[in-house]
Amino acid sequence: MPQLNRDTRHPVSFTLNGRKVAGTAEPRMLLSDFLTHEIGITSCHVGCEHGVCGACTVLIDGIVTRGCLTLAVQADGATIETSESLAHEDGELSDLQKAFKKHHGLQCGYCTPGILMSLTAYLKDNPKPTEEEVRDMLSGHLCRCTGYVGMVRAVLDYCETRGG
Ligand code: FES
Ligand code: FES
Repeated sequence: MPQLNRDTRHPVSFTLNGRKVAGTAEPRMLLSDFLTHEIGITSCHVGCEHGVCGACTVLIDGIVTRGCLTLAVQADGATIETSESLAHEDGELSDLQKAFKKHHGLQCGYCTPGILMSLTAYLKDNPKPTEEEVRDMLSGHLCRCTGYVGMVRAVLDYCETRGG
């Protein structure tokens, strides 16, 4: 049986925010590192690197996923969305992003891309959440700045404004 070399880099390609991207990754390389260092996006933030803080959250084939708990090679062939996909092509923020801005749902912004991606998936299935449900959903993300109050207001306002 041939010996596996852990340093061998493997081709990895997937659709990222609507465009095909490709690179190579060692078998142990995390998706969060691949997105940042190989592809060059800036929104897949790394905080805890063990699945707790949620800063690295992206959508893989529509499923909320921690980039730090996923190997880059596992994403081969997938469709990945990050917060870079949310604004319109002309740079205008999405309605959810505007609501975060309006209600001061962010401060340093480190947690924000991951939270926006979790909310994007969550609100598809739960278009009219209660405040308690929003808080419960946000409990999967750590924010050291805001106390979450502005985020909760932003989500509720967004749902109200778009008519749920
Ligand atoms: S860096 Fe991935 S959950 Fe914290
Ligand atoms: S806005 Fe700073 S960590 Fe959430």
